[in-house]
Amino acid sequence: MNYSDKLLKSESIIDEVRELENKYSKRLVIAEWINRKMVSNQGNKQVAFLNWFGFKESFSYDLVIKLLRQANSRPGDIFLDPFAGTGTSVFAASNQGLKAIGIELLPIGQFLHNTRKAAFQVDVKNLEAEIKNVLEFLRTKQIPPHEYYFKHVSITRGAFSKETENAIASYLGYVDNEIKDDHIKQLLKFACFSILEDISYTSKDGQYLRWDKRAGRNRAGDYLKPKIYIFYEAISMALSGMLSSIKGRMLFWSEDRDLNDNTTIISGSTLEKLPRIPSASVDIIISSPPYCNRYDYTRTYAIELAFLGIDNDSLKKLRQTMLSCTVENKSKESWLREMYICIDKPEFFDIANKTFVENKALNSILSGLKKAMQDGELNNNGIYRMIYNYFFEHAFIIHEMARVLKLEGKIFYVNDNVRYAGISIPVDLILSDFAESAGLQVNKIYYLKRGKGNSSQQMRVHGREEQRKCVYYWEKV
Ligand SMILES: C[S@@+](CC[C@H](N)C(=O)[O-])C[C@H]1O[C@@H](n2cnc3c(N)ncnc32)[C@H](O)[C@@H]1O
Repeated sequence: MNYSDKLLKSESIIDEVRELENKYSKRLVIAEWINRKMVSNQGNKQVAFLNWFGFKESFSYDLVIKLLRQANSRPGDIFLDPFAGTGTSVFAASNQGLKAIGIELLPIGQFLHNTRKAAFQVDVKNLEAEIKNVLEFLRTKQIPPHEYYFKHVSITRGAFSKETENAIASYLGYVDNEIKDDHIKQLLKFACFSILEDISYTSKDGQYLRWDKRAGRNRAGDYLKPKIYIFYEAISMALSGMLSSIKGRMLFWSEDRDLNDNTTIISGSTLEKLPRIPSASVDIIISSPPYCNRYDYTRTYAIELAFLGIDNDSLKKLRQTMLSCTVENKSKESWLREMYICIDKPEFFDIANKTFVENKALNSILSGLKKAMQDGELNNNGIYRMIYNYFFEHAFIIHEMARVLKLEGKIFYVNDNVRYAGISIPVDLILSDFAESAGLQVNKIYYLKRGKGNSSQQMRVHGREEQRKCVYYWEKV
């Protein structure tokens, strides 16, 4: 018997998880109508605007439309996505005539939202003329204005060649000083933002930011990025792609809808913003939180964040404010307790905390993981804390989502199960159990026919076991 088998037995994890599985077994259903493409950004490759910037953690426009249909949502309904990312769901819901609200911590969310508004309102002829002008300007020899040089954070230093640094500064200086129209300015800045990866020595590969050895960073290894675009080539392509979708009024630019009125992105942490949304005010929530998989958005998107003016200190702060999903995240328990006192709802803290504390399956998993950590079986001690906090914070998110929902309101929540130290964690069942404690009905837990393999490291030590990729469907009844 290997370590994880022994652990699963000794901590009665198997019994507790089995009980939870029995409880939800009839509602756990394979969803043939959802495929991997739909729960990833692959599904957005053909969708104008959403294909202007690759955010690997997006779900697809099509998935949102399907779920809105399943929920029988109607124009005028209030839609919420508490982890809005690039705004896929806000975009799709508003196109269906819903009033859409997103909450997103990374400034990328607000920046994309402003870009979308600009694309919607811009005068296309003027945009076309200004694109010609800026490309013409880039073909001349320029002296880059000093104040427009890329303001790196420590983890992005060396991301560009000297020529590229110069080209970025020249372009941004020109856009800021020569372009008078705010919509055009926003769109041209966005074009530069959207190509940062392509013109850099970095690749957003899998779980982390990979560095080309030419960047000269320590520990870069031997990696050579197959293609690094020169600035002019990349910006021309980005601008012409944007122009052709705006010109074609592709798919979504319905003239009769006032986008300003229809969509809002609230910048900040959901843990702080959701409690401020009135009770029983939302008809439908479609969202995908960070997964409990150690993935660090603030590292993968560090270049884009630096472009948007984030410095070293704010980057660290963003990382800590994120829903706990990395080994670096610290506990937000005392902060949450204080916050609920501040907004005069201390009892809400106790209720959400009780949901977390009393979940038997979660308790047995956490004690198993603690044991594994003490036995040196977790390859990073921060993993235990991450998982603990992931569920702790989710107890609050789920209670708040239940509170803001109207009666008969629905939630669709996209998330993956995970596995550590050979222990499969049924995130879907535990969070659904939280939902039930928060007064929601668990209608279905849809999962994809093909799940997700575990990491190669887990596979080597503990064997292969697919983890469910799910869409939970909850309702307030
Ligand atoms: C899986 S992604 C969502 C992607 C989105 N569905 C899309 O299509 O672009 C999760 C998002 O949650 C955001 N996030 C993480 N912690 C947050 C917090 N405390 N408050 C608000 N947003 C947060 C991340 O920045 C990330 O954009």
